[in-house]
Amino acid sequence: MHVAIIMDGNGRWANRRGLPRTVGHAEGARTVRRIVEAAVEAGIGTLTLYAFSADNWGRPPDEVTRLMKLFQRYLFTETQYCLEQDVRLNIVGRRDRLDPALLRAIDNSEKITAGCQRMHLRMAVDYSARRSIQQAALAFTRAGADPDAPQANARFLGLINEANHSAQAPDVDLLIRTGGEKRLSDFLLWECAYAELHFTDCLWPEFSREELRKAL
Ligand code: IPE
Ligand code: IPE
Ligand code: MG
Repeated sequence: MHVAIIMDGNGRWANRRGLPRTVGHAEGARTVRRIVEAAVEAGIGTLTLYAFSADNWGRPPDEVTRLMKLFQRYLFTETQYCLEQDVRLNIVGRRDRLDPALLRAIDNSEKITAGCQRMHLRMAVDYSARRSIQQAALAFTRAGADPDAPQANARFLGLINEANHSAQAPDVDLLIRTGGEKRLSDFLLWECAYAELHFTDCLWPEFSREELRKAL
């Protein structure tokens, strides 16, 4: 089973406590650890977490910098955990706009966990579904592929994964969005063609194992 989560509501969680948004993101990172553990225990095969959209570059520079630092720290602290849990870690999305230090951390984490098989954990950073579909369409056309061939959709999905620097991942079975908004925000548009959709008002820092269990 492939579960995808739009982790929304960090800013509001912090605002309600009179704290800066970045504190909400730090708390959100703790939720990631909790939910990854729960997903492994639940036997989920692929978990894709939306951490930073291509549109999120438009946020205030301080917030963007803080988020990028958090991703890097996440890779440093969680790679060993992933290895121990037999979890393959992948960062999916564009790479050409990321800081070289973050790129090195990504490369390192992906190499270390490349052979892990229990769960495929994909963190979407500088991700845009539209862009990945455009990239795949270009590659599909260049290869002279036939859209009516029996395996055309599977082949297209493969090209989308390649465009995102992802190891092969299947279509999404369940999409969860926290934070109360009922929209997709350019996330996995192709892969969610037949996904079940679960929207919850729960803000991401408060998302629990129990909430995940209910969604499943
Ligand atoms: C989601 O929380 C995290 C990212 C987009 C990086 P938000 O920062 O969007 O939180 P809200 O939606 O403003 O509450
Ligand atoms: C979607 O949340 C992106 C992530 C969770 C990383 P946003 O808060 O950025 O989305 P919009 O702006 O509400 O559509
Ligand atoms: Mg938001």
